[in-house]
Amino acid sequence: MSEVEAASEQFNEVKLDDCCATENIESPPSNNPEHLCVTIGATVPTGFEQTAADEVREKLGSQSRISKDRGKIYFDISVESLSKVHGLRSVDNLFVVVQEFRDYQFKETKEDVLKDFEDLAGKLPWSDPLKVWKINTSFKKKKTKRKKLTQQNIISKEKVDDEQGDLRAEKNVEEQVTNYTMEEVLETIENQDGIIDETPILAFSKIVSEIPSAIEKEKGLNESHKEEAESQVLKFRVTCNRAGENHSFTSNEAARDFGGAVQDYFKWKADMTNFDVEVLLNVHNNEIVVGIALTEESLHRRNITHFGPTTLRSTLAYGMLRLCSPQPTDIIIDPMCGTGAIPIEGAAEWPNCYHIAGDNNPLAVKRAANNILSLLTKSQVKESKAFWGLPIDAIQWDICNLPLRTGSVDIIVTDMPFGKRIGSKKRNWNLYPSCLQEMSRVCRPGTGRAVLLTQDRKCFAKALSSMGHVWRKVHTVWVNIGGLHAAVYLLKRTTQVFIHPAELQHDREMP
Ligand SMILES: C[S@@+](CC[C@H](N)C(=O)[O-])C[C@H]1O[C@@H](n2cnc3c(N)ncnc32)[C@H](O)[C@@H]1O
Repeated sequence: MSEVEAASEQFNEVKLDDCCATENIESPPSNNPEHLCVTIGATVPTGFEQTAADEVREKLGSQSRISKDRGKIYFDISVESLSKVHGLRSVDNLFVVVQEFRDYQFKETKEDVLKDFEDLAGKLPWSDPLKVWKINTSFKKKKTKRKKLTQQNIISKEKVDDEQGDLRAEKNVEEQVTNYTMEEVLETIENQDGIIDETPILAFSKIVSEIPSAIEKEKGLNESHKEEAESQVLKFRVTCNRAGENHSFTSNEAARDFGGAVQDYFKWKADMTNFDVEVLLNVHNNEIVVGIALTEESLHRRNITHFGPTTLRSTLAYGMLRLCSPQPTDIIIDPMCGTGAIPIEGAAEWPNCYHIAGDNNPLAVKRAANNILSLLTKSQVKESKAFWGLPIDAIQWDICNLPLRTGSVDIIVTDMPFGKRIGSKKRNWNLYPSCLQEMSRVCRPGTGRAVLLTQDRKCFAKALSSMGHVWRKVHTVWVNIGGLHAAVYLLKRTTQVFIHPAELQHDREMP
C-alpha cells in the first residue's frame, strides 16, 4: 500500500473533536469530515505557477488561482484529497488557508495596524483549517515514522559511497535511528494496524528484539506519559512573510502582535523552534492570507540524498520536464546532470520513458549513481518487495562529444553551468555553442525538444542566434534560482537534418 493510500485510509480513523486544546473554536466539529472543504495554498518555484496549476487540475480536478504574490497558488479540496495534495510534484510547501483578504485596508499608523492584527486573531474562522491540520498531523506522524524506518534500511543496504561527506551523513542517520525513545518504539508497535508497510516493521523488529523486557516495563509508564502528553497544550509559532513597499510595520512586529493575540485566544504556548502548529501570516501589498502550515520541510527534498554544489530542486526539475510533455518510450537525457536531480525526478514520475544522466565530472556521476541507488532502495522498502527497476542510467561523458547516435534522443532537459559556482562565464562562450550543436545532432529532427536552464542569458542568446536552422525557441520561463534571475528555454528541434560542420566546410571547399 502506498503512503498516499495509507494516509487516505487514515482519514476515517482520525478523531476530529480533539483537534486543539481550546474551547474557543467557533463552530462545532463537523460530524462528516469527508465533506470538509478547505482552500489549500502551495508555494511553488517562481515561474512555474501555471505548471503547478495544471498538475493540480489533472491530479485533483481542482482549478487553481495563481496569486499576485509570485510563487503561490491556491485551490479548493475536500479533505479526503489531502493525501493526494502531498503527492503533488510541483509544490514546495503546503498550508491550509484560514482566511484570505484580497484588498485589506491598512490603517494609517503602525500602532493602529498592529492593533487590527491583534483583533483579527479572535475573528478568524479557525475551526475547519484546524481540523485539516489535525488530520494532516496524523498523516505526517505516520510518514515520519516510515521515513525513519526507511533510513535504517538504507543504512544497512547502502554501501556504494565512500565520500567523506556522505559517510558523515550516514553516521547522522545512524545516530538518529539508535536514538529512538522507548515511547517511539512502543507507539510504532501499537500502530501496526496495516498502515505501516511490512518491511519497515521487520526492520524495526530488530530493535525491538534487543529490548524485549524493557518494553514490558516501560509499557505501564508509557500509558501515563501518554495521558500527560495528551493533556499538554499545543505549542505554536507565527511566521510572517511580508512583501510590498507601503507597509508601516515589519514582519517581526506583525508576527509578534498577531502571535500574542493567537496565544491569548487559544491559550497555546509560543515556541519558536519546537512547535506543533505554525500559523502563517502572509502579507503581499494589500493582500493578506492567514494559514496553517501542512509541511515541515519543503517537498522538493524528496529524491536527493547525495548533494552537490548546485543541486536543483526536484520541484523545479519536475516543472522543466513537464514543459516538454514526455510521452511513453521517449528517450530523455540530461547531459550535464550533476547530482541527477532532473533525470531522477523524470524516472520517478515518467517511468515509461528511458532516462540517461551524464556529466563530465566523475564526482558528479558518482553522486548521481548514489542518488539513483538510494531511490531504488527506498522504493524497495516502500513496496516491501524486490524492486530493481528504475528506467535510468548514469554515465560519464562530455556534452560536446556524446556517445549517442544522431537523431536518437527525444528530449534533452538540462541545467547548464551558470559560470558562477560551476565553470566560468569565459568558458561558457565556447561551451554553450558546442553544447547546442551536439544537442542538435543527437536530438530527433522535427519532434525533438530541449528544455535548458541558464542564468548566463547573454551567452545563451548569442549561441542560439547562430543555430536558428536547428533550434526554434518557443517559450521562456523566468525563474529565481537562489536569488539569481535565470531563464528556462523550451526549444524545438527543426526538421533540418544535422550536417556536421566539417562536412559543411568540405562542401564549400569542393569546386
Ligand atoms: C549547474 S550544474 C548541474 C546541476 C544539476 N542539475 C544538479 O541538480 O545537481 C552543471 C553541470 O554541468 C557539468 N558540466 C560542465 N561541463 C560539462 C561538459 N563539457 N560535459 C558534461 N557535463 C559538464 C558540471 O560538471 C555540472 O555538474
